[in-house]
Amino acid sequence: MKRIIFTGKGGVGKTTILSNLARLLARDGYRVLVIDCDPSMNLAMSLGIPISEVVSLAGDKSHLQEKLGGGVGEHANHGLEDTDDSLEEFIVQACDGVKLIVMGTIPFGGAGCLCAPISLVKLLVNYLASGPDENDFIFVDSQAGVEIFGRGLASEFDISFVITEPTPKSLEVAKHGLRLAKDLGVKRQIAIVNKVELEEDLSCAVQELNLFADQILSVGYDRSVIEADKKGALLLDNVPWTSALSDILRIKKCMLGDV
Ligand SMILES: Nc1ncnc2c1ncn2[C@@H]1O[C@H](COP(=O)(O)OP(=O)(O)O)[C@@H](O)[C@H]1O
Ligand SMILES: [Mg+2]
Repeated sequence: MKRIIFTGKGGVGKTTILSNLARLLARDGYRVLVIDCDPSMNLAMSLGIPISEVVSLAGDKSHLQEKLGGGVGEHANHGLEDTDDSLEEFIVQACDGVKLIVMGTIPFGGAGCLCAPISLVKLLVNYLASGPDENDFIFVDSQAGVEIFGRGLASEFDISFVITEPTPKSLEVAKHGLRLAKDLGVKRQIAIVNKVELEEDLSCAVQELNLFADQILSVGYDRSVIEADKKGALLLDNVPWTSALSDILRIKKCMLGDV
């Protein structure tokens, strides 16, 4: 099972690339579980699932935290035998067999930070990685920025996809993310330069990121991504085949060729 995290500045295309990639892999027969760790909770919508159908981990009433080993004292590691049953209520089936789990959001103003739900996701990923091999890929969609690395969620992950636009601010966030992923020991760091319109913009981004050639991929700016978004559809469902989808297909091939 491979664990893959998607990070980068807000609006760079993390959720778009992740959701299309997840479904492309699922269509190839891979078992893909995606976890939305962004409090904006866009991933369900991207996968065509109404958010009303989602039970988020943040609203957990089933003591999942204790079962996953986060309990203390006499509660620690108790009840693991029925953890899979407890998890069932949080797993939503999406198209092509992709499974979705949503971390959740801040329920009301002043409710506090997201530390607890993020640490629950970390326990959950560790639990899934150590149990029976039920997934080929676990994708984690993260919130904007790099905080997720500060919380160590991605330690022991196989790939960190750092998504960036070819703009200075976005590239700064990407460079920071790449450094932090390396600090955490993520096995491969790959930058995806998204929304590329000009060849020269991509060249500048490549120069700025200063990575090996096999660590950089790109997706072109494609108006059909926005058109699909407006219809509430995924690019994948918005035929005909578009250039961005061909680029995402190349990302899939790169992942499979090496992981
Ligand atoms: N390659 C692309 N070409 C054009 N628009 C894109 C592309 N990738 C993403 N977008 C658009 O950018 C916006 C942000 O994408 P999203 O995936 O939600 O970003 P993030 O998850 O990083 O916040 C959306 O409106 C999406 O349609
Ligand atoms: Mg997103």
